[in-house]
Amino acid sequence: MANQLLKGKKGIIFGALDEKSIAWKTALKCYEEGAQIVLTNAPVALRMGEINKLAEACGNAPVIGADVTNMDDLKKLFEESMNHFGGKIDFVLHSIGMSLNVRKGKHYTELNYEWNAKTLDISAMSLHRVLRTAVGSGCIERLG
Ligand SMILES: NC(=O)c1ccc[n+]([C@@H]2O[C@H](COP(=O)([O-])OP(=O)(O)OC[C@H]3O[C@@H](n4cnc5c(N)ncnc54)[C@H](O)[C@@H]3O)[C@@H](O)[C@H]2O)c1
Repeated sequence: MANQLLKGKKGIIFGALDEKSIAWKTALKCYEEGAQIVLTNAPVALRMGEINKLAEACGNAPVIGADVTNMDDLKKLFEESMNHFGGKIDFVLHSIGMSLNVRKGKHYTELNYEWNAKTLDISAMSLHRVLRTAVGSGCIERLG
């Protein structure tokens, strides 16, 4: 049962790929609880088209592509989100992870270290990139 716990809150949700994604379920709950959201994922993920179904289910939420390893993409995402909301946002969900070694079926003893570095950039450093851009763009006041 929804209680409008997020009524009036505005947020950006990263990482809804398909119905199995944690971010997918979270987006639906946020919307059900009264939040306004912007959905984002890597351009390659958006090409699958699944996210448009979620956007529709969330009151035609805007979908803005951004690769979290690309600072220009992130800057554009936060600027466009602020334009959409007409001001600052209240929350961000960072639900991102990707391992190139796993995807390519590499055994532990055969790890490609460049892919491993890319994995850490996408899955971990990207949280820092996102927060830094959020503050830098004036989308959120401060951290902590
Ligand atoms: N599923 C679990 O049981 C579980 C448990 C603990 C932690 N987690 C973590 O929760 C997060 C979400 O996992 P999930 O199970 O929903 O998986 P998921 O694959 O559905 O979500 C990961 C998302 O990251 C996105 N992504 C990958 N590279 C990107 C990039 N360069 N730029 C922007 N987005 C990119 C993918 O497109 C995808 O939407 C991950 O960080 C995962 O490690 C998951």
